[in-house]
Amino acid sequence: MSVLKITGGRSLSGSVRVQGAKNGALPLLAASVLTEGISVFRNCPALSDVQATVQILRHVGCRVYREGDALWVDASGPIRPEVPDALMRSLRSSVIFLSALLSRCGEVSLALPGGCELGPRPVDLHVLALRALGAEVTEAGGRICCRAAGLRGGRIDLPAVSVGATENAILGAVRAEGSTVITGAAREPEIVDLQAYLRSAGALVSGAGSSVIRVRGVEKLRGADHRILSDRIAAATILAAAASAGGSVRLYDADPACLGPVLQVLRNMGCRLENAGNVVTLSRKEPLRAPGSVITRPYPGFPTDAQPPIMAAALRAEGTTVMIETIFENRFSHVPELLRMGADIRTSGKTAVIRGVERLRGAEVSAADLRGGAALVVAALAAEGETRIHGLRYMDRGYEDLALTLRELGAEAERIG
Ligand code: EPU
Repeated sequence: MSVLKITGGRSLSGSVRVQGAKNGALPLLAASVLTEGISVFRNCPALSDVQATVQILRHVGCRVYREGDALWVDASGPIRPEVPDALMRSLRSSVIFLSALLSRCGEVSLALPGGCELGPRPVDLHVLALRALGAEVTEAGGRICCRAAGLRGGRIDLPAVSVGATENAILGAVRAEGSTVITGAAREPEIVDLQAYLRSAGALVSGAGSSVIRVRGVEKLRGADHRILSDRIAAATILAAAASAGGSVRLYDADPACLGPVLQVLRNMGCRLENAGNVVTLSRKEPLRAPGSVITRPYPGFPTDAQPPIMAAALRAEGTTVMIETIFENRFSHVPELLRMGADIRTSGKTAVIRGVERLRGAEVSAADLRGGAALVVAALAAEGETRIHGLRYMDRGYEDLALTLRELGAEAERIG
């Protein structure tokens, strides 16, 4: 079993490039099934979640190969609407294949991804979207079956913000007959990126980035060449690491416009931040201050995915930080592990209260989910002595060679095994 060994206490300095976005790549790859052509996704991160998605694509009949950071998907051959259950369950975002396969094949039956480390993750909003497009949807025995002789455009009023359901709604609508209006849409940059790809594939979609998205169905889509957007959560994680360890880091290929609330919280903590084009520089020389209250919200609010690493950065900040998690029910899995490192955190329901401590100490800890693992890394960099982090399979889902990135910034970090 691999372990990440970090010896804390060194400040970070230097420059690194931000990887392509995991949460951008996954829906884009699913969307490629809707085209009857060859798509190229540049800046595609090498992650285990991307690899699992590639396996799904191959299983349904696409030809996929990688050349450097470009992933080629050829969806021009016949597509079959089946994915092995184990593959479906291996990643949550497999649910995005629902509408792509339904639209392409007229039917689909998939195993539901099930509950997971972030608490229950229902699919009611995905089902609502597909039904609004005329699909017949049944759920039984952990499977979801959809059928539609031909999807037809309609009105999809999403009662709560969901990134995945918005993506499924768009993918279901782009080749449906007639027009669709999606209200209550998630506004995340990954949805804007999905729209950009679909448009270059010939789809008629507008409004992504706002809560109303309009789609006029087209008969066919062609393959397209697309550069995946920068990973705002990977960027936030490195910034949190630099805030925690101190020093000065420069991120290339970042998208500061998508990082607003994270940059603001880091500024409130006493970090100096500068943006120039796609370069973000953070330096932190003085002791950290607690940022006050941080509440996770759908975009453009403070992202739930940045909550764990920013919490870890706040552990040694002077004063009290209150973090309120409003998106997922169980996103404090990193807290018991941080307590082992000497943190002072109290949780009650959705709220975590963090009182700054003078020192953290290295410990043997385990990641229980992707961003929780990132929090352990951020804390380890500022801890005295050695921290050994287990559960790297979670981090491999979303971070490209984290140990190497940290070493490039001067940290003492090594992956063993
Ligand atoms: N929800 C429902 N019903 C649904 C769908 C969602 O109640 O049918 C609830 C969820 O249970 C959750 C909330 O709505 O409480 C938001 O979930 P959303 O659907 O927006 O999340 P997602 O699409 O499953 C994506 C990211 C997550 C990120 C969330 C929120 C991908 C592949 N995943 O998940 O990323 O946390 O949006 O921004 O895009 C991560 O990268 O670590 C990660 C978990």
